[in-house]
Amino acid sequence: MSNDPRLDLAAKASATSGSDTWHSTGVEGVLRPLHLADGPHGLRHQPDEGDHLGIGGSVPSTCFPPAVGLGSTWNPALVRRVGAALGSEASSLGVDVVLGPGMNIKRSPLCGRNFEYVSEDPHVTARIAAALVEGIQSQGVGACVKHFAANNQETDRHRVSAEVDDRTLREIYLPAFEEVIRTTEPAMVMSSYNRLNGTYTSQDPWLLTELLRDEWGFDGVVVSDWGAVVDRVAAVRAGLDLEMPPSGTDHLVVAAVERGELDESVLDTVVERLKRVQERVSTDTSRPLEHEANDALAREAAREALVLLKNEGGALPLAADRSVAVVGEFARTPRYQGGGSSHVVPTKVHSALEEFGTAVEAGTLKSVRFAAGFTLDGTEDPALVEDAVAAAREADTTVLFLGLPDSAESEGYDRTTISLPAPQLELLARVREAGEQVVVVLSNGGVVSVSEWQDRADAVLEGWLLGQAGGAAVVDVLTGAASPSGRLTETIPVRLRDHATYLNFPGENSEVRHGEGVFVGYRHFDTLDVPVAYPFGYGLTYTSFAYSGLEVTPAGGQDGENAWTVSFTVTNTGDRPGQEVAQLYTGVEQDHPTRPVRELRGFAKVALEPGESARIDLPLTGRDLSVWDAGDQRWSLAAGTYTVAVGASSRDLPLRAEITTAGDRYVRKLTKYCTVGEWRTHPIGGPVMEEVIASFPGLDDVPAEMLEMARSLPIITLRTFGLGVTEEMLDLLVDDIEARRQAAVARGEITG
Ligand code: BGC
Repeated sequence: MSNDPRLDLAAKASATSGSDTWHSTGVEGVLRPLHLADGPHGLRHQPDEGDHLGIGGSVPSTCFPPAVGLGSTWNPALVRRVGAALGSEASSLGVDVVLGPGMNIKRSPLCGRNFEYVSEDPHVTARIAAALVEGIQSQGVGACVKHFAANNQETDRHRVSAEVDDRTLREIYLPAFEEVIRTTEPAMVMSSYNRLNGTYTSQDPWLLTELLRDEWGFDGVVVSDWGAVVDRVAAVRAGLDLEMPPSGTDHLVVAAVERGELDESVLDTVVERLKRVQERVSTDTSRPLEHEANDALAREAAREALVLLKNEGGALPLAADRSVAVVGEFARTPRYQGGGSSHVVPTKVHSALEEFGTAVEAGTLKSVRFAAGFTLDGTEDPALVEDAVAAAREADTTVLFLGLPDSAESEGYDRTTISLPAPQLELLARVREAGEQVVVVLSNGGVVSVSEWQDRADAVLEGWLLGQAGGAAVVDVLTGAASPSGRLTETIPVRLRDHATYLNFPGENSEVRHGEGVFVGYRHFDTLDVPVAYPFGYGLTYTSFAYSGLEVTPAGGQDGENAWTVSFTVTNTGDRPGQEVAQLYTGVEQDHPTRPVRELRGFAKVALEPGESARIDLPLTGRDLSVWDAGDQRWSLAAGTYTVAVGASSRDLPLRAEITTAGDRYVRKLTKYCTVGEWRTHPIGGPVMEEVIASFPGLDDVPAEMLEMARSLPIITLRTFGLGVTEEMLDLLVDDIEARRQAAVARGEITG
């Protein structure tokens, strides 16, 4: 890294922290201050000093659906357009870097911030987040992926240590970050508040340097989450470029350099990285804000985010001759985003109630009568309930808006239940008794349970948090002006206690053990065949689809024999246009599972007219079938047969095929600390070991259980059994096997 002669030590140190809540520090002639702003689904641009908790006001900006909604669209092309709109608003407002997307895995449905995250699955998280980054960055604005890493709860978030084993990190919590960083090159990465296996992520050299930069090739800026830095010097040394907001501790960085505890070249590197980001971004404040067009886009995205869970007796779409009772305060006062730093002041808000009125005017519905039914602050008002019951009694259909109030979920704290508020469920029971047909529309950022009440509804439409145009989008889908096409990115459990994390969330004594390992979300439910209310990937439409013609063909390419194309046909077999989300899962047969029975590896959303078919090709790679080998720190593809399944959800997979592969032909190095069992099954060491064993007289008579016991002995222990084996003999054996292994690698017979 070149040392810029225009910068003295103090100036370099000042660049490693911001100048205020939203700006990096400028250095005359070298660095211009970068303007950063939340957030993931709309801008929280605070032109004045501002705050970072979403308490103070901000300039009105389009509030797109939060990540929970964008994820449910399963539509990266649409999300890219949302990203571009977000980027263009940022550019107009002079915001250089948008602090999003959030891409942590929804480990538990109780995480208060799940509305800001995409999914319980890394593949869909990666695809949606990548699309958002590409869109934002297409406008000359930087994106900042967050919160790196394993920030899966809000409880004790500034101190908690997520205790996660290596394989689980690599297979569940890191892959989305890895893919987005490798494929979209975001300008920034935000380290999280929490500790990971005991070390604060903002001062973890393995995470911020070895993995992120050396292995994944990230060359942008790592910024701390706001207020996350505990030990300033340790953070800079570990690879954290920018502390935000500034804690006024630059002098500690200077002192550490002067004392020889921190190499000054580390600061030069920070300056180079900041320069690189500033060269990549260029905002244009003369650009007009396109609030009208972006509101229309927010409505389109919200429509695709809606997930139709249940639709009996053709309850939906609502027929034009229906009189409708619209019940529930959420219809008039929509809950369309979550609380905390992502909170946006919208440019306008569409309520479902006002859109119902428009539908009546347009003749799409016969009549609408509104009753609030409940209050949002939880105070009970029997008169509201009676009014709602009366409205339901008169109407052909009651559309009941239920959900979680703002106070139930937010950044900064977790939920303790996934139930809807009891007064709302009592209202549903009363309305059910009075009304002919009941359609429930939900507003919630994290999953809510449906099992205890859904029998009382003819139809259930999961509306998540849909952004400022959500109310309009809901009416579009209820009336059939648009078809529902969202799918679940997280499983809806029957009971909270069925969830894999139930006993390990949110931990205690500032420690949370990820005891379920890789069995997160559907990976747990499907592997153990636990009944669920609605599975991962699920969602109904107003039409039907059929799957046929599965073919798996080798694709060649870089990965040679370990790359395939999975092709199949989807046909719209109903009588309305609709969109299907075709999903590809892989798995491996196991007697006692150590891997999930199936994992999402691809998907495609297709729009089809009635009777129309589409042929879909999805790529599959060796990495998709691999597990992380924590021993040798590498992805491992074992030889064998893998299953490929295609369909409409993790539990509706009509097409199945098998792939057989020779694997990656990796042969590991043997040492004297490997066990007898590992030696005997090793392709090079095994035959030699058999010869050695055969040379010992009397071993034939050793009882089978003793031989079995010996399997777990590291061979170094053989010195102590009076067999005449010495450490020197073992060293010679190890060297010999290693020489043979290296020769086989050189001949291309194996990899190693
Ligand atoms: C949040 C970040 C956010 C930052 C700035 C923090 O509290 O965790 O997601 O970008 O504040 O507002």
